[in-house]
Amino acid sequence: MSQSISTVMVIGAGQMGSGIAQVAAASGYVVMLFDTNREALEKGMAGIASRLARQVEKGRLSEADRQCTLARLTKVNSLSACKDADLVIEAVVENMEVKTSIFKELDSLAPAHVILASNTSSLPITEIAAVTNRPEQVIGMHFMNPVPVMPLIEVIRGLQTSDETYEIINEAAAKLNKTAVLVNDFPGFVSNRILMPMINEAIYTVYEGVATPEAVDQVMKLGMNHPMGPLTLADFIGLDTCLYIMEVLQDGFGDDKYRPCPLLRKYVKAGWLGKKTGKGFYTYS
Ligand code: NAI
Repeated sequence: MSQSISTVMVIGAGQMGSGIAQVAAASGYVVMLFDTNREALEKGMAGIASRLARQVEKGRLSEADRQCTLARLTKVNSLSACKDADLVIEAVVENMEVKTSIFKELDSLAPAHVILASNTSSLPITEIAAVTNRPEQVIGMHFMNPVPVMPLIEVIRGLQTSDETYEIINEAAAKLNKTAVLVNDFPGFVSNRILMPMINEAIYTVYEGVATPEAVDQVMKLGMNHPMGPLTLADFIGLDTCLYIMEVLQDGFGDDKYRPCPLLRKYVKAGWLGKKTGKGFYTYS
């Protein structure tokens, strides 16, 4: 296995994948970004370019660094580009079938040394790793949203993740200027085991008519010193992602205390997925 990473492939150019690609390119990695949806890939690349341009305007990034970052970043149109990578970070929809089919394909295409990481926010790394012939080189790298801003990577070791893989990923996290916190592989890990039931409960308070979304968010901001209310945060994360995570917790623990609020299901069915679709608990222009 190679001891260091120089080329990173990111699968999925949505809000997380494009953020991960941006941070990796800014940190000196050669980065390939892939998405099955061409429009999403273009949107992801455009988002990176505009965020970098804004950083230059604000004086936080030099023009030379902006150009170097963009020069290290390319879009690719096939999973087989992973043959040139040292690390692949998957950031597609939070769905086990989709993720395992990608990992199976990556395992058959990627050279033996390549580490396969998932940015899943709740799905078992052990189960994803089990569909590959390299479970010791599969690991969870759970970045937080927005990736360029948030300093944490929750690193999840599957049952068979090797010490060597963990150490290489720890080093990569440091190079990305993030703090890696190690957790074990249980549904929702630590972050979403705690955060998502709180968001779900906030949705129940709206569903049961206890308060409006604005009031719920104000209580948590002004009363608990949260920088953002739970319903604003849910819109920001994506209500579909919130629902997937609650289902993973409910199934994974077999405990109905994690049942998703019916209002959350209803909004997702309506296509109200939060900020990314312009409508969730709030309306976005
Ligand atoms: P998103 O919906 O913004 O982006 C997902 C992207 O994956 C889309 O562009 C879609 O076209 C692409 N995609 C779907 N199937 C694909 C395939 N087979 N091959 C290549 N690309 C494919 O979703 P988001 O929010 O970026 O989430 C991605 C992952 O990151 C999920 O696993 C989610 O749980 C996790 N995550 C999300 C966070 C959030 O706040 N939204 C925070 C941390 C992790």
